[in-house]
Amino acid sequence: MSCSHKIYVIIPAAGSGSRMGKNSNKLFMKIGDKTVIERTLDAFNNYGNIYAIVVTNEENLEELRRLQNTNYPFIKSVILGGNSRTESVSKGVDELANIEDGPTADDYVFIHDGARCMITKDVIDNCVEGLADNKVCVAGVQAKNTIKVVHDGIVESTPDRSTLYEVQTPQCFHYNVLKKSYGNAKENNIEATDDTALAELLGYKVAIVEGSYSNIKITTPEDIIFAQGIS
Ligand code: C5P
Repeated sequence: MSCSHKIYVIIPAAGSGSRMGKNSNKLFMKIGDKTVIERTLDAFNNYGNIYAIVVTNEENLEELRRLQNTNYPFIKSVILGGNSRTESVSKGVDELANIEDGPTADDYVFIHDGARCMITKDVIDNCVEGLADNKVCVAGVQAKNTIKVVHDGIVESTPDRSTLYEVQTPQCFHYNVLKKSYGNAKENNIEATDDTALAELLGYKVAIVEGSYSNIKITTPEDIIFAQGIS
């Protein structure tokens, strides 16, 4: 899909992978012949005309810089993250202002978890389309299961399932709105696993675009088996 706006992706990849039960970063586990992070990078690199910032940890900094210099010149910067995903993304947002050919106000910025390596071109297309009509959008899928609101082990309510979506990444913004959203989060010490929630707090409308049930976040060992099955 052609797009008159420049497109950037911030890839938070600085997690510890503790739920994988391993000491090393889950993003370097293999699915077939490639690692999780390589698959994620391939999806955006192959899409074309996207610049990336990868946020990583001390342990993987050198390896990611090696990947940048060999296979992935679309990565404009590899930087160190923080103790939370919000902090890591926030550093990525700051870094956008430092890179050569950085974004202008209305350019598009996606935030995409390094761990969501099954992202497809169709989902990226949907995000690009979503930003043509909205300042903020997020890939999501309708909840397949009934979801309960629970307090202290007791069900408080059962929301109508047709109104419930599970959101994924990409979480997508026009650059000026992203800067405002993360600026506010930093000022007020707000943590979020869902970046677009930070824009909601400022009153922006967030559109849902179609994600995919296979766009899973590699988190626990069975996710690797699932990803191997569909890759
Ligand atoms: O922890 P969780 O699975 O929600 O992490 C989602 C993404 O955020 C992963 O790709 C992970 O590497 C990244 N992350 C990060 N910095 C952190 C924690 C998580 O970049 N401190």
